[in-house]
Amino acid sequence: MTHNARYLAARMDQVAMSPTMKGTIAAERLRREGVDVVDLGAGEPDFPTPPHICAAGHAAIDAQRTKYTANMGTLELRQAVTTRYRADYGVEYAPDEVVITAGGKQALFHAALGLFSPGDEVITHAPGWPTIPEQIKLAGAKPVVVQTHLEQGFVPTADALLSALTPNTRGIVINSPGNPTGALLPESDARVVATEAARRGLWVVIDLCYERLIYDNVPHNLPAIFGAAMKDRLILAGSASKAYAMTGWRLGWAVGPKAFASAANALQSHTTSNASSISQYAAVAALNGPQQCVTDMLTEYQQRRDQVLAWLAEEPRLRCAVPQGAFYVFPDVGDFLSPGGLRTSAEFSDALLAEEFVVTTPGEAFDTPGFLRLSYATSLERLREGVTRLIRFARKHAPQ
Ligand SMILES: Cc1ncc(COP(=O)(O)O)c(C=O)c1O
Repeated sequence: MTHNARYLAARMDQVAMSPTMKGTIAAERLRREGVDVVDLGAGEPDFPTPPHICAAGHAAIDAQRTKYTANMGTLELRQAVTTRYRADYGVEYAPDEVVITAGGKQALFHAALGLFSPGDEVITHAPGWPTIPEQIKLAGAKPVVVQTHLEQGFVPTADALLSALTPNTRGIVINSPGNPTGALLPESDARVVATEAARRGLWVVIDLCYERLIYDNVPHNLPAIFGAAMKDRLILAGSASKAYAMTGWRLGWAVGPKAFASAANALQSHTTSNASSISQYAAVAALNGPQQCVTDMLTEYQQRRDQVLAWLAEEPRLRCAVPQGAFYVFPDVGDFLSPGGLRTSAEFSDALLAEEFVVTTPGEAFDTPGFLRLSYATSLERLREGVTRLIRFARKHAPQ
């Protein structure tokens, strides 16, 4: 094919649209038609952004803080990130090791483009958030996806991650707590991965987007564990989105060695320039202000998680692991699939929406067919209704 015969750029052959929004769009259409939809598809908190954070955003507008900021973000916010990480993890970073981004997604994108090249292999895990392998591919590198399993709570063990090493491995991207499983990388496994990564000079990128949403006080100090072994090749990608119910503000950060921060700064200077100035002022209030709002939301999510698991247990064939973080459960619907009935989890999810008006996200979206992601970022009352409909639907379609 000559270069003019090609319509879009070659890299677009590699990249697919994020599949997680499909259900939300279908639900919106049904809702407009007046249908009583139960939306368990949401990838964002149902809580409002806390008032003191909104007030800081308003104040920024009123004070005309509406102009460009430094590409890497305001010094005040970069300091707020370092202060937060010192308080939460006991790790020390300087403000010039922080780049403020338009969401954790952009922080991860800077990591992919800044660290990975064609010929590199980058290990990550499934079921997993689809953006991670897509970004690795956009960097021209090859994602090597390690499968985790329901029986082990979908934990991305050190054994599994390290079994994928080859001489071409350049880095490992870990999402913990994980979407869609809520699984954590255990601290003991983190130590093993960190030691091996240090020995081989690998980069480790940790997607900590759900870091503030961990249940049962499970210790999860990945920044300190990896930092102790290999801080010179460690990137932490964080976000205000889930912790502070700020998804629409588009505010995240990448924390890592100064040379990486300079690279991310350069990438950002030629793409988005800076995260919204207003969102940056709001995020200072989020990170420096009272953290009770985070605790309150976590308590509510934990109650919902426990309830959803109890309700799902009414149908034992819907097997699921106990999520340790985030706000999703990922039940196995394999017992309800058959060649003559619903053949795949994607068909299951589509038919569940068509027959019972429940929005879910099929495992196909996370590289793991046969499962269904249910978000519990919605009220207990809607959750009860959604799980009732799901169980009714599953039983009706169960192969005889
Ligand atoms: C695992 C994971 N990482 C990162 C993000 C990025 O979120 P944001 O760009 O809103 O910070 C998301 C959002 O859904 C996510 O699920």
